[in-house]
Amino acid sequence: MKKKTFYITTPIYYPSANLHIGHALTTVMADTMARYKRMQGFDTYFLTGSDEHGLKIERSAKAEGKEPKEYVDKIVASFKYLWEKLLISNDDFIRTTDERHKQVVQDFFQKIYEKGDIYLSTYEGWYCTPCETFFTARQIGEDKLCPDCQRPVELVKEEGYFFKMSQYAERLLQHIEDHPDFIQPVSRRHEMINFIKSGLEDLCVSRTTFQWGIPVPLNQKHVIYVWFDALANYLSALGFGTEHDQLYQKYWPADVHLVGKDIVRFHTVIWPTMLMAAELPLPKQVFGHGWLLLDSGKMSKSKGNVVDPLVLIEKYGVDAIRYFLLREIPLGMDGYYSEDNLIQRINTDLANDFGNLVSRTVAMVEKYCEGKVPTPAEKKGPLEQELLSLAGSVPQEAAGFYEQMDFANALASIWRLVNRANKYIDETMPWLLAKDSSQKEKLGTVLYNLVEVIRVVTVMIAPAMPALPAKVWAQVGAEVVVNQTWADTEWGKTRPGQVVAKGESLFPRIEVKEEDKEAAPKRHKEAEEITIEDFAKIDLRVAEVLSCEKVEKTEKLLKLEIKIGEETRTIVSGIAKHYAPADLVGKKVVVVANLQPAKLRGILSEGMLLAASHGEALEVLTVEKDLPTGSQVK
Ligand code: ME8
Repeated sequence: MKKKTFYITTPIYYPSANLHIGHALTTVMADTMARYKRMQGFDTYFLTGSDEHGLKIERSAKAEGKEPKEYVDKIVASFKYLWEKLLISNDDFIRTTDERHKQVVQDFFQKIYEKGDIYLSTYEGWYCTPCETFFTARQIGEDKLCPDCQRPVELVKEEGYFFKMSQYAERLLQHIEDHPDFIQPVSRRHEMINFIKSGLEDLCVSRTTFQWGIPVPLNQKHVIYVWFDALANYLSALGFGTEHDQLYQKYWPADVHLVGKDIVRFHTVIWPTMLMAAELPLPKQVFGHGWLLLDSGKMSKSKGNVVDPLVLIEKYGVDAIRYFLLREIPLGMDGYYSEDNLIQRINTDLANDFGNLVSRTVAMVEKYCEGKVPTPAEKKGPLEQELLSLAGSVPQEAAGFYEQMDFANALASIWRLVNRANKYIDETMPWLLAKDSSQKEKLGTVLYNLVEVIRVVTVMIAPAMPALPAKVWAQVGAEVVVNQTWADTEWGKTRPGQVVAKGESLFPRIEVKEEDKEAAPKRHKEAEEITIEDFAKIDLRVAEVLSCEKVEKTEKLLKLEIKIGEETRTIVSGIAKHYAPADLVGKKVVVVANLQPAKLRGILSEGMLLAASHGEALEVLTVEKDLPTGSQVK
C-alpha cells in the first residue's frame, strides 16, 4: 500500500538581518508538526528556505558595500546554523537564488504569459519596499503609509507585467467556500473572504528599477516581482516542471503552508490564483499563526526589539525554548514573549512538573527496588484505574490537538497526565509503602506505573522537544528507540527489570535574582489549570436576592438574604461601593453554595456572590432568563 504523504512548508525567510525568536516560532511549529506526522507513519516532506531577491536586499547589500549574493550567502548560512541548533528536521532548504528555483519561476511566468494571463502595461502606484508590496491609493490613505508596517511608501511609475489576478476572484471565493479547511484558523478565513469580496485588482509582477531578481524570460529589462518568485519555491523545491519531478509527483499539493498571519493574504490570494492560472492543484491548507509579541509590540527588526534565539538556546536549552514557543501561543492567536514568562514556564511545567516526576520516580526505584523497575500487580485499585484511564485517553486527545496544529492544547493535555502522576505519588506515598513489607506488591505497581507514565508522556512530547527522549530513556533505563511512533503511547511497554540511572536534572530550576526581574509590565498571571473534576467540586447556584442591607460601621460590606431553591441563607459580600442595597433586591445572582461558612463582622456568611471586576469597575453576575433559584451553574 502507498504510504500516506504529508508535505509541510514554512515561509522562506528574508535574509535582511538575523532571525529572531518570532521567526523561530513558525519553524518550530512546522518542525513539530512534521515530527508528529512522521510518528504517525506519514511519508513527510518538510521544506524551509530563504527569500533572497528584491530591492530591499539589493539596498542592504549596497549599504554594506557587498554584492547581493555575497551579502545573502553569509546570512543564509546563519539561518541554517540556527535551524540546526533548534533541531529543525527540514528535508530541504530552498534558496531563491538556486538555479533550480530560477528556472521553475521563469517557466511558470512564461506559461501564464503564453496563456494570456500576463500582459504588459504601466504601473503607477505605491510600493512598500520593506514589505515588497504594491498598494492602492485607498489602502495607503492620506498619510501615504504602508497599511502593514506603517512606513512611508514610494510612488513608482514604470512599465510592468501584470498578472490577471482579478479574473480569478470568483473562482477563488468559490474554492474557499468549497474547502473550509483551505484557510485556517477560521478567523483568518473570514478576513480573507472579506478582503477578496472587496475586489481584486490585477497584480504587477515585474519591476524595472533594480536588477536583483529573476529576469522575466521574454524581456530581460524586467525582473520578476519577489512574491511571484518566492511563492513558487514550494514547487521548485520539488523539482516541478523538470525531468526530476518525482518529489512533485509524490507530494504536491502541499498539505499545509504554515505562515504568520501577516502573509496569509499572499498565500491565499496571490498564490492560489497563480496556481489556477498555471492550471495546477491548490495547496490543501494555509494556516496563519499569530505573532509573538513583546510588551513593546510585535518583534521586528526595524523596531530593534528583537530577541535572539541563539542566545536563549544557549542559556536555557533548545527543548525549553521550543516548549515555551509551542505552549505559549494559543491556536491562531498572538502570544507574549518575556524572559519572565519563559522562566516561569521552565520552572513550573518543566522543572517542577515533569523534571520532578522523573527525578522522584528514578530516585524511588533506586532506593526501594535496587534500581530495577518492578513488576506491577495484575489487580488494579481505583487510583490505578483512574491513572491508567487517563494515560489511555490523553494520547488520543493530544493527537487530536496536534492534528489541528493546536500545540498549546496538545501540551496542556499531556501535562494533565504529568500532573495526575505527581498527584498519584502524593496519594500512594511510596515512602510509606516501602516501610511495610506487606505492601511490596503495591509499591511495585506504583513505581511501575510512574515509569510507564513517564514513558508515554515522553513519546507524546517528542515532536515538541526532540532532545528530551534520549535523556529520559537514559534515566529510566528504557531502550533507546530512535524512531518513536505514536503507537508507542500504548500502555504497558516498559519492561520490568529495566535498570534506572539517576542523571543530571532534566530541567534545572532557574533562579532569578530580584534585581534581574524584568521591569516590563507583566501580563496577568495565567490561572493554574484545573480538571473538570476540580471544577465539579464547586457548587454554583442561581439565587434570588430577597433583601439586602449595609453592614453597619463598614464601608464595603452588604448583608444579603438569598433564596437557593427552598433554602434561605445569609451571605455577606464586599460590594457596597458598587451597589446600593435596593439595586440588588429581586436580582437572580450566582453564588458558590458549598463554600465553608465564615463569620464577617459577627455575621455568618454561607456562600459567596460572584462578581466580575476590571480596574475600578465591578459587576455582579446575574442570570438573564428567569431560571428558578437553585438551578445549577456549570
Ligand atoms: O514574509 N512572531 O519573510 P519574513 C511570529 N519572505 N512570526 C513572525 C514574527 C513574530 N514576531 N516576525 C516574523 C517573509 N514572523 C517572506 C515570506 S513565503 C513565500 C515568503 C514570521 O522573513 C512571519 O509572519 O519577513 C512570516 O511568516 C515569517 O516569519 C517570515 O517572515
